[in-house]
Amino acid sequence: MKNIDWGSLKFAYTKTDAVIYSLYKDGKWSSPIVSEDFNLPLNCYAGVYHYGSSCFEGLKAFRGVDGKIRLFRPDQNAKRMQTSAKFLDMAYPSEELFIQMCIMSVQANSEYIPPVDSSASLYLRPLLMGINPQLGIRSSDEAMFIIMASPVGTYSGDLSLVPGKAVIGRNYDRAAHQGSGGVKIGANYAQSLHPYNLAHNQGYRELLFVDSKTNSMIEEFGSSNFFAIKNNTYITPSSPSVLPSITNACLRTVAEDMGLKVERRDIPVEELAEFEEVNSCGTAVVITPICSIDDKQILENPEVQHHYTFGDGTHCGPISEKLYNQIIGIQKGKIEDKYGWNIFVDCK
Ligand SMILES: Cc1ncc(COP(=O)(O)O)c(C=O)c1O
Repeated sequence: MKNIDWGSLKFAYTKTDAVIYSLYKDGKWSSPIVSEDFNLPLNCYAGVYHYGSSCFEGLKAFRGVDGKIRLFRPDQNAKRMQTSAKFLDMAYPSEELFIQMCIMSVQANSEYIPPVDSSASLYLRPLLMGINPQLGIRSSDEAMFIIMASPVGTYSGDLSLVPGKAVIGRNYDRAAHQGSGGVKIGANYAQSLHPYNLAHNQGYRELLFVDSKTNSMIEEFGSSNFFAIKNNTYITPSSPSVLPSITNACLRTVAEDMGLKVERRDIPVEELAEFEEVNSCGTAVVITPICSIDDKQILENPEVQHHYTFGDGTHCGPISEKLYNQIIGIQKGKIEDKYGWNIFVDCK
């Protein structure tokens, strides 16, 4: 294992040993290649540079209490990447190739899998991009599928359950009503860069988007889903422009197992006043509690139309903390994985 201060890792890039890639040309994928060179030569006319023909995924590998290495639900990421690639009319790796290359990446970078007692993990970033030289606007015929790996901590450093402040800026949309919000393409994130900078510069950790059609229903944060707890019920938005989060799906299952009611439905912004606990959830953030949400008509302006608060402002809500412990427990082999979510990876 590398000599890294695991506790000080944030959700940021750390150089590792290898990337794994495969190239798609003339209707087939090449055998995966292990490369120590991360500066891959791409033609500057590649579609990815001009027309955003790219989609990506994020998943994590963990060292378990039994010393075994677990990869969490890579089949779900493979399926979601297929949906994203279909949206872009691009070739995509089979589920088998996707999982095979994730395993190869964990094995090639196994020295960077954090110890079980740290809150860090090995994050895998599968990326699919259009690489054939082109000038006109059309989908890419040739593609590169690559798996990168980096050890990461949580967004807030070592403390995974420190509540943060969020803001709604009603003058910015994440995804169009009939657009690409439900798939994980690079273009969605380009759209959120500027409003995110505005929010961060005002001291907010998170930016919460509302739906672009009525500008009134909660959708999701820029890189994670929204869920709330009210009257022993787990409530999360149901919208085709929200990314179907794998973490959120797991949490709904775990919540039902814990005896909570689960509701997926429209959530008007005003309902924030009734929630006992509010969180963002996703692979990167796991569960990150939100202690307050400011609702702003214009993100750039100082005026706040409504200020909502949740819990005591310093601790995660009790139900959310139980959900967090269940998920982390399954990922680290402390709690029985009764749904078979983990894949074991043999590392030397
Ligand atoms: C916009 C958005 N929503 C939600 C999520 C959470 O999804 P998952 O739980 O599959 O990581 C992510 C991260 O992938 C995301 O980028």
